[in-house]
Amino acid sequence: MQAKQPKRYLITSALPYANGPVHIGHLAGVYVPSDIYTRYLRLRGREVIHVCGSDEHGVPITIKARQLGITPQQVVDKYHAIIKDSFEKFGISFDIYSRTSSKIHHKTASDFFRKLYDDGKFIEKPSEQYYDEEARQFLADRYITGTCPKCGNESAYGDQCEKCGSTLSPTELINPRSTISGAKPVMKETSHWYLPLDQYEPWLKQWILEGHKEWKTNVYGQCKSWIDGGLQPRAVSRDLDWGVKVPVEGAEGKVLYVWFDAPIGYISNTIELLPGDWEKFWKDEDTKLVHFIGKDNIVFHCIVFPAMLKAHGDYILPDNVPANEFLNLENDKISTSRSWAVWLHEYLQEFPGKEDVMRYVLTANAPETKDNNFTWKDFQDRNNNELVAIFGNFVNRAMVLTHKYFEGQVPQVGTLTDFDHATLIEMKEVKTKVEDNLESYRFREALREAMNLARLGNKYLADTEPWKAIKADEARVKTILNISLQITANLAIVMEPFMPFSCAKLQRILNADSVMLQWDSLGCATLLPVGHELGQPELLFEKVEDEAIAVQLQKLRKSKEENEAKAAAANAKVPEMSALCSFEDFQKMDIRVVKILEAEKVAKSKKLIKMLVDTGLDKRTVVSGVAEHFEPTDLVGKQVSMLINLAPRSIMGIESQGMILYAEDATGKLHLMQPQVEVNNGGKIC
Ligand code: MF3
Ligand code: ZN
Repeated sequence: MQAKQPKRYLITSALPYANGPVHIGHLAGVYVPSDIYTRYLRLRGREVIHVCGSDEHGVPITIKARQLGITPQQVVDKYHAIIKDSFEKFGISFDIYSRTSSKIHHKTASDFFRKLYDDGKFIEKPSEQYYDEEARQFLADRYITGTCPKCGNESAYGDQCEKCGSTLSPTELINPRSTISGAKPVMKETSHWYLPLDQYEPWLKQWILEGHKEWKTNVYGQCKSWIDGGLQPRAVSRDLDWGVKVPVEGAEGKVLYVWFDAPIGYISNTIELLPGDWEKFWKDEDTKLVHFIGKDNIVFHCIVFPAMLKAHGDYILPDNVPANEFLNLENDKISTSRSWAVWLHEYLQEFPGKEDVMRYVLTANAPETKDNNFTWKDFQDRNNNELVAIFGNFVNRAMVLTHKYFEGQVPQVGTLTDFDHATLIEMKEVKTKVEDNLESYRFREALREAMNLARLGNKYLADTEPWKAIKADEARVKTILNISLQITANLAIVMEPFMPFSCAKLQRILNADSVMLQWDSLGCATLLPVGHELGQPELLFEKVEDEAIAVQLQKLRKSKEENEAKAAAANAKVPEMSALCSFEDFQKMDIRVVKILEAEKVAKSKKLIKMLVDTGLDKRTVVSGVAEHFEPTDLVGKQVSMLINLAPRSIMGIESQGMILYAEDATGKLHLMQPQVEVNNGGKIC
């Protein structure tokens, strides 16, 4: 049952933080589903806008700026551009993608705060907070480090210990220090404005727990547990110099809390998009507002922002918040700081033209009801076994056969068999199945139903075998291919929300115009008129080879190793210094830059690699016990450091003339010691 149809739709997607690029977890959790939904509504001719933009405030952005020695504005300028570009290239069809550092957003957020302030909706309360006397500023939790009271980790943050995962408050840290100046912070009184969420509790209970039982169970469940746990007043301002200034006299040095201003960004973006016409989207009860977000955003979109909207009084409330759970990557949590991610801007370069493949895989495997896992193997399988073998293969067969037998023209339909009828009935049912699922935010299931149409087509051709029938019964083959082409045309409609690029291509291949292929005629068996001239067949999808997958897995392995080395380095016990040696002793050692020319494993040895190196003076053989650390191919062509006057030694019958030097990290793994730039072979290390 579909509820009463609203007059118009306002779709929002969570504003991503502009402190890093976006990855497949973002896409799967938020932007692919919101794009599917919006495209679907547009195809159905509904009035709809989809707004988004970068979330450019908050402490992590200021920390990143400090680390890089640039301004927060420079940080967000860089990532806003990257994120916007990635979304565009993946076909995420926002009507606007703006940013919260824009003037219009500052004004909108500031006015919003001011109205609540003037209406007496906030409580103002003093509190004690850590202050850095040297830097003369209050310290956000993230700006304080110290020893974790739970596990003893010496570099825990004021809000969290990354070693043991405990949530902390800054006053719990032992021996706290400011990360800005290194000074010991002192307690100092400050004052902030709070939104008294406790006062909204009865209303929220009614509105969500009674009024929105249809919300996804993961969303409803989280709301219930927040509400049942009792709501507390939330501070909506911060002592920080990056953000929307608190528009109150005497509030210098204070900005709106990022989670107060960011959701107002949805309103600012709408105003920017439709300056004269935005109000009907936010103030008319006939507008259906839907927030697409990830599960870590549920409390802000279901509880805090609605309470803000309610307090303001002029605005409508969300009708639904279809939050997704998280997507893991190769069985591990996606993490920006550990660079365990598939970055969209990198994927776009490494898999050009395969935007739809990622969209497909992320939808087919979307974390809709529970956390899910992305693996490169599954990516390859779904591409090769589903997109290529089912969808692409079916379309290609229908096209090629029509070109072969009927000069690329849609043939005449003759008498239908029972099997034809059954196939056409199944085709007709796809429309409501896909629609019902999409209307209920079940995107995986909707895609599965759409793919079933391709399966149906594939099976239809396999069962009717037109390539066999052609000799005996040409009229029959005409009917079969007509039906197959009608199924293909239907696929070009139904797949559009999910795989827009491939559908545009399919439409071109069919030489069909958008008048023939309208959502309303989905299920129709006469989309392509008899005699219609098809375009040339072209493959819709191509196989993903093992090598491409191996490259991705290797890349992930490398980032895991680098992280482990980094983590180990942070906690490393540095080896004791050796006994002193005289300068004369040191001078005896002749250490040089050499180039490895050849490398191979020594037979019957697990550890040894034999290398031929160019010392600048000669070419000679060295044996190194490093086969567990490097592949021979990692070594060839590299310049490394070598002690060249070590007396020759025989190792497993091979004379080794010198010793290559390596750097050992805290995990015991070895790394090459390479000059910063290529130098001449034989260059002295001194
Ligand atoms: N930037 C937040 C995040 O990535 C989402 C903000 S959504 C908004 O988790 F509603 F606040 F805009
Ligand atoms: Zn800890």
